[in-house]
Amino acid sequence: MRTQVAIIGGGPSGLLLSHLLDQVGIDSVILEKKSRNHVLSRVRAGVLEWGTVEMLRNSGLGSRMDKEGFIHKGTYLSSQNKGFRVDFQKLVKNKVMVYGQTEVTADLYAASDKRSRVIIHDVENITIHNVQTESGYLIYHKDGTEYRIDWDFLAGCDGFHGVSRKSIPVNILKEYERVYPFGWLGVLSETPPVSDELIYANHSRGFALCSMRNKNLSRYYIQAPVSDSLDKWDDKTFWDELKKRIPEEAADNLVTGKSIEKSIAPLRSFVANPMRWGRLFLVGDAAHIVPPTGAKGLNLAVSDVHYLFEALKLYYLEKSVEGINRYSEKASERVWKAVRFSWWMTTQLHRFPNQTKFDQQIQESELKYLEESNAAQAVFAENYVGLPY
Ligand code: APR
Ligand code: PHB
Repeated sequence: MRTQVAIIGGGPSGLLLSHLLDQVGIDSVILEKKSRNHVLSRVRAGVLEWGTVEMLRNSGLGSRMDKEGFIHKGTYLSSQNKGFRVDFQKLVKNKVMVYGQTEVTADLYAASDKRSRVIIHDVENITIHNVQTESGYLIYHKDGTEYRIDWDFLAGCDGFHGVSRKSIPVNILKEYERVYPFGWLGVLSETPPVSDELIYANHSRGFALCSMRNKNLSRYYIQAPVSDSLDKWDDKTFWDELKKRIPEEAADNLVTGKSIEKSIAPLRSFVANPMRWGRLFLVGDAAHIVPPTGAKGLNLAVSDVHYLFEALKLYYLEKSVEGINRYSEKASERVWKAVRFSWWMTTQLHRFPNQTKFDQQIQESELKYLEESNAAQAVFAENYVGLPY
């Protein structure tokens, strides 16, 4: 088989890229290791930057999001059970959309069904060949048979554990990483959200976050050691701990219930560079990971896709290699800004092991400054709603 753009990975990055390419007549094939059900059952963050919202709308993917998503014009932060609000609309005339990543992925699959695009699931053992030449190809296996796909370009949209990044020689690829010494214990429950907007809480017992999916589906997180067993966190223990960390009024109003999903996720910041090697492009989680504080993961995947789509369009429609040559530089620049912001939020809001009284005072005064300064709030709001592409 031959295609113009082969895409490894059928997560949000791969699906969105293929959708956009299709709209301008560039053909692509997606190869996904897992089943469609598996991809659609992953619970991920749920805050879309406005740039993401506009990109989804402009490419015809916005109708369910506009019906079922919630526009948030601000967010709450709290320090030692006392909350304050940052008003995005007032400060930077912008907002975010609360709409689960799982829903975005479902919308992308629905759009791809309509256009009968090629998504091959349950593929195994992809190997990548000749990326530095014009005769690149890959080999994969499915149901015990070997297949070959020749391509002009290869998009590595295969997440952190994929094969694409690993195919770039170690003397070329630079990796930057910070692993945080804690995780997030997340709970999904069929209860009404405690607040109309998200609450990011700093507390001496550890960070907490109150988020939501819809009017009767809430998502809550508390900072917990990655090594904790879920047995230690039955529902009651979780709710009791959450209440201790959030503003008093929220704790009083919190409706608790049975959890329908519970898991502990590690937190890391990771960036790989360059994001292009010959005709291979790294996109989304394949090239970078951010801690969930600030919900930048999906939004960064979308901005990478934007730069790559524009580059490929320029190549096929105007025969210019300009965008391709600049992809890595442009995408990385935006990535690093979001890496900085999510590192900053993580650092200011979590309890670190061996945190001294001095460190604690600095955190508290950082939040006090944010509470009182319009300038500091504008910086926060500008980053939270998403920097321009
Ligand atoms: N071959 C084929 N597919 C693969 C391989 C492989 N060797 N390795 C991984 N994949 C698939 C995974 O099964 C997954 O479906 O690639 C997909 C990558 O999807 P994501 O991990 O969702 O990454 P991405 O599409 O870049 O989306 C980024 O989604 O993962 C979240 O937090 C992340 O919000 C961020 C966004
Ligand atoms: C979520 O709703 O899952 C969520 C929201 C905001 C974050 C992280 C996760 O910063």
